Amino acid sequence: MQLVTEENITELAVERWGSAHDPRLAEIMRALVRHLHDFAREVHLTEEEWLAAMQWLTATGQISDEKRAEFILASDVLGLSMLVVQLNHAFDPAATPATVLGPFHIDGSPELEAGADMAAGIPGTPLFVHGTVRDLDGKPVAGAVLDVWQADDEGMYEAQLDVSEARLRAKYTTGDDGGYCVRTVAPLGYSIPVDGPVGELIAQTPISHYRPAHVHFIVTKPGYEPLVTHLFREGAQYLDSDVVFGVKEELVVRFDERPAGPTPDGGSSEVPWLEARYDFVVQAVDGS
Ligand code: BEZ
Ligand code: FE
Repeated sequence: MQLVTEENITELAVERWGSAHDPRLAEIMRALVRHLHDFAREVHLTEEEWLAAMQWLTATGQISDEKRAEFILASDVLGLSMLVVQLNHAFDPAATPATVLGPFHIDGSPELEAGADMAAGIPGTPLFVHGTVRDLDGKPVAGAVLDVWQADDEGMYEAQLDVSEARLRAKYTTGDDGGYCVRTVAPLGYSIPVDGPVGELIAQTPISHYRPAHVHFIVTKPGYEPLVTHLFREGAQYLDSDVVFGVKEELVVRFDERPAGPTPDGGSSEVPWLEARYDFVVQAVDGS
């Protein structure tokens, strides 16, 4: 019979969970148990604190549904999501870096022509984001699909609203020269949802619950690593305090103010507009 002591409980639990049938699961569970026990020892966790943590986890599960992913939000604000992105998408330094997907991407966005407006009917300053998709050798990548989405001027994504039509999201395909042109409205910074357990936790700290103004992109083309990323507006508030740690220097882009007149899609704007130029660099699956 193996009697349990404070000294041997970690080894007993590590050994037990290391018996998982799948070797990778066994490896993960061994490390998880070891780190959890070390954590409890390090902070000398009290029973009240343990119970508070269990209640917080329970509430996090209870508020979650197919539209609300509170555990993922918790992972985001703890920096875990961004760490996992970096561990798994360590592209060549010359490639555009990846960032968190976030909870608001919707599959099956409408396919638009270059320069077509994904923000038709939505208030805001017109914004053209245009440039090319290239490979690491600088060669244009034709036929790459840019899946684009963003929040509205109240910081709300379509996934948070009860709407039946695609809203502020679209897919654009690069031409033979690798060129693309997205027309939308200027994004604003916004708060992550704070009416749940994650917000309650943040409220007990001086941590900002805002994200800086950004547009999301997923760039895909067979033969290349899919690129999940954002472009952030240079000079935007919260760039250095993004609550989900998503900002990378390479992804901060100037939004230049342009007067009413010709626009990059060959059309014309009756009102002043913003221009952001960005060349995405994607890495081939073989690393080249
Ligand atoms: C977003 O940018 O859409 C987002 C990412 C992580 C958490 C919340 C929102
Ligand atoms: Fe976002």
